[in-house]
Parts: sequence; C-alpha cells; structure tokens
Amino acid sequence: MIRRIVVAVDGPAGSGKSSVSKEVAVKLKLKYIDSGAIYRSITWFILSIYGEIPDDIDFFRELASFNLKQEFLPNGTSRTYVNGRDVSGLIRDEVIAGNIGVVSDNIDVRNFVNGLLRKMAEEESVIMDGRDIGTVVFPEAHIKIYLDASVDERARRRVKEYKEMGKNVDEIAVKKQIIQRDNEDRSRKYGALRKADDAVIIDTSGINKDRVVAIVESIIKKEYPQLCI
Ligand code: DC
Repeated sequence: MIRRIVVAVDGPAGSGKSSVSKEVAVKLKLKYIDSGAIYRSITWFILSIYGEIPDDIDFFRELASFNLKQEFLPNGTSRTYVNGRDVSGLIRDEVIAGNIGVVSDNIDVRNFVNGLLRKMAEEESVIMDGRDIGTVVFPEAHIKIYLDASVDERARRRVKEYKEMGKNVDEIAVKKQIIQRDNEDRSRKYGALRKADDAVIIDTSGINKDRVVAIVESIIKKEYPQLCI
C-alpha cells in the first residue's frame, strides 16, 4: 500500500504552478511545498547579513546558521519562516529577484535545498512546485506535471497580478523579464528547467485556473484513488 505520494509540478515562471498546486493541495489534502520560496529565503538571508551577495561568499558555511520552516494552512496559504521570522512577504520583493540568480546557480545551495525538500516530503503526501522537482529532486515522483504557457500569456498574467497589488507596469517590460528568466532557468548549470520524460505537459494558455486544477486533480485521482477522499 502507498503510504505517501509526491506530486512534482515544474514549469517556467508565470505558468501558474503555485496557484494551481495550492488549490489542488487544499482539495486533495496534500501538503504544498514552495521550492522557489526557499531559494528566495536564502537570498533574503544573505542580503540581510551583507546587504549584497559577496563575490567570495561561502554558501556552505553561511547555510549552517540558516533554519527554514514552511507551513501550509488549510485555507491554501503558504508561509515561510527563516530562523523563526516570517519572511513570506519580504521574499517577494524585487531586490530578491534581482539577486537570486547567483544563489540558485550555486551547487552548495542546490544540494542544501534539495536535502530540505526531500526531508519535508518524508512524512506526508506533498505537491511541490519548482523547476527541477521531477528531474532532480524527486526523479521517482509518483506524478509529474509540467505546466507551460506562451510568453504572451504569462506576461499578461504577471501584469494582472501586479495591477491587483496596486502596481502599474509595462507589459513589454514584463515580457522581457519573462524571456530573461526563461533563459536563466533553462541554462542553469545545475537544476535547469527541463521537462521530465515522464511528465504530463499541460499547456495552460487560454485555459482558466479552475480547469487546470480539475485536470491535475483528475490525473492524481485516477492513479491514486485511495489517497483522495
Ligand atoms: O518559483 P519562483 O519564481 O518563486 O522561484 C524563484 C527563483 O528560484 C527562480 O529564479 C528560479 C529558482 N528556482 C530554482 O532554481 N529551482 C527551483 N526548484 C525553484 C526555483
């Protein structure tokens, strides 16, 4: 009998991974784990000590005093704590996005994060989103989903999100950022964004979130009906 399952959800920025994963998690009583928030938290942690990412930083040493906790609430919210401090809002700042590249490219950081992610999934069924979950972190994941959408669609979604936060942004600039992030994510030396051979691809362009949630839910239910109440 299966004790727990791992659902890996990978895909590029703006493909809807986190909102879809959270909703599926609530519906199927899985724990949602946000791997991007961990890379963001490490970036925040180093910036909070040095104000910048030093050129000669030894991530391995710095991470010895980094303690992370992530919780997923029944209402579908994910919160991330670093050494007891709630950083969930702070890690969404643009300064983090501007400095995260050197952090997420580092092999010591990636090994550290991968270890954390595997530990977080030891005890219960999880749905985890990221870039390399189905390829590197859990190559044996029970279900692998790869969410994709066109650059234009992803740019439109980001602009909408910014507007909802009261920020006015230019769609062309957002589109450029997305293309740049795609290039960074796909060309990373370790843990690059790549579709696992056995992942189900869902192109979410032109499909609303509820529909994508329903598709992912039905894929999991079909394979593991005993886990779903
Ligand atoms: O999903 P996100 O935008 O919160 O991710 C933040 C950054 O972390 C993004 O630049 C890519 C990186 N990341 C990664 O390298 N591997 C993952 N599994 C998740 C995120």
